[in-house]
Amino acid sequence: MSDLVKIRRPNASASQEVPQAGPDAPAVYMETFGCQMNEADSALIAGQLGRAGYRAVRDPASADVILINTCAIREKAEDRVWGRTSQLLRHRADNPDLVIGITGCMAEHLKDKVAKRAPYISLVAGPDSYRSIADLVDRARTGEAVVDVKLDKAEVYDQLDPHTDDDGVSGFVTIQRGCDKFCTFCVVPYTRGRERGVAPREVLRHTRVLAERGYKEVVLLGQTVNSYAYEDVDFAALLRTVAQVDGIERIRFTSPYPVDFSPRVIEAMAEEPKICPQVHLPLQSGSDVMLERMRRGYSRQQFLDLVGALREAVPTLALSTDIMVGFCGETDDDHAQTLDAMRQVRFDFAFMFSYSDRGITYASRKMDDDIPDAVKKARLREVIDLQEQHTRASHDAMIGQTLDVLVLGPSKRGDKTLGRAPTFHKVLLPPGAGEPGSFVRATITGSTGRSLLA
Ligand code: 5AD
Repeated sequence: MSDLVKIRRPNASASQEVPQAGPDAPAVYMETFGCQMNEADSALIAGQLGRAGYRAVRDPASADVILINTCAIREKAEDRVWGRTSQLLRHRADNPDLVIGITGCMAEHLKDKVAKRAPYISLVAGPDSYRSIADLVDRARTGEAVVDVKLDKAEVYDQLDPHTDDDGVSGFVTIQRGCDKFCTFCVVPYTRGRERGVAPREVLRHTRVLAERGYKEVVLLGQTVNSYAYEDVDFAALLRTVAQVDGIERIRFTSPYPVDFSPRVIEAMAEEPKICPQVHLPLQSGSDVMLERMRRGYSRQQFLDLVGALREAVPTLALSTDIMVGFCGETDDDHAQTLDAMRQVRFDFAFMFSYSDRGITYASRKMDDDIPDAVKKARLREVIDLQEQHTRASHDAMIGQTLDVLVLGPSKRGDKTLGRAPTFHKVLLPPGAGEPGSFVRATITGSTGRSLLA
């Protein structure tokens, strides 16, 4: 998952069943760090607070409550949150009653250590505490220091509607929470708890709400979406059911786990036109020794075979990945094998990281974080340089192709229209190319390196 991007989510307006809060209602400002699951959780929190009479604001200076939804996956992610919370603290000068709270994975990871490091944070709420988030915020506003980090094996937020945008085009639907894989490097099972599937009726209800609101695309979310199971419904069956929802034209999912890519899911991708030709398939390492030590459950060859099967079934497939360098004991040869696997697959895109010890994982307890920072840095550089070549080549290969681009809205700079190709590539179209939510047939003419031009 892309946990590189910091997403600011002002949640400007209320979703359909949320009563419109008046100007005197307490104001909440929210920021989201981390993966798409966190973005979806922020929408859930916004929905809960909206129903409880809070109003969302885009400016922290006018907020009574500032909530930061956080990520704990790497040390850097937590550092960024600390930096941002201390910046936001300056708003206390104008508003001594301002409540600053952190929610999500870092809250769960650090628990009461948060208050030790930053006593000005008066609310700490983990990923399974959002059902009562309004109550927790109310209590923090009375001056109480509130910490709720209990994990709940059953909590899937049934029947709670997340906030939706008035002009939304692509929306998240959480289909699974938690993770049972326990990869040795990863904090997620500890911060998000055990894996549980959201009932298919709930997944369908959320998808229909989005369709009614005018959304055209849904992204099904989970830590390992393709291990989804609810009674006798597996991920392939869920995908085919979601594809029946009228109004939703495109379906994506993230992230699948390589081991759980059943032939049934590959078949569904090949047969169901609404399922987009795009897969994010985290490789982590190209070395069998490292994969074993990470407890990933597949070998390099099994990963390559899966890529082959996916590309055969879905010829226009775009493939992205996560690569992690510098894990415990990684030798120059292990690293060379990662570069080699990347050359064999030629991913269209990748998120690349160097390993950081998270304190509570198996690796943290049993393995030595023995790769010097300088070596991690150098290896990461090599991986990034190689991927840049592959990304460029992948963009170049698309020049001249004509695609159906889903219009999302104006580009960031406002001088173009931003859209998304079936392969998930960002496409910059001429200004006025189409209304948000419309499909435009566009011929790719070039690339900025990050986006395609059409
Ligand atoms: N250090 C560095 N990167 C990590 N990831 C997960 N845990 C760690 C860690 N301790 C990366 C993996 C994963 C992505 C979401 O983050 O590549 O797929």
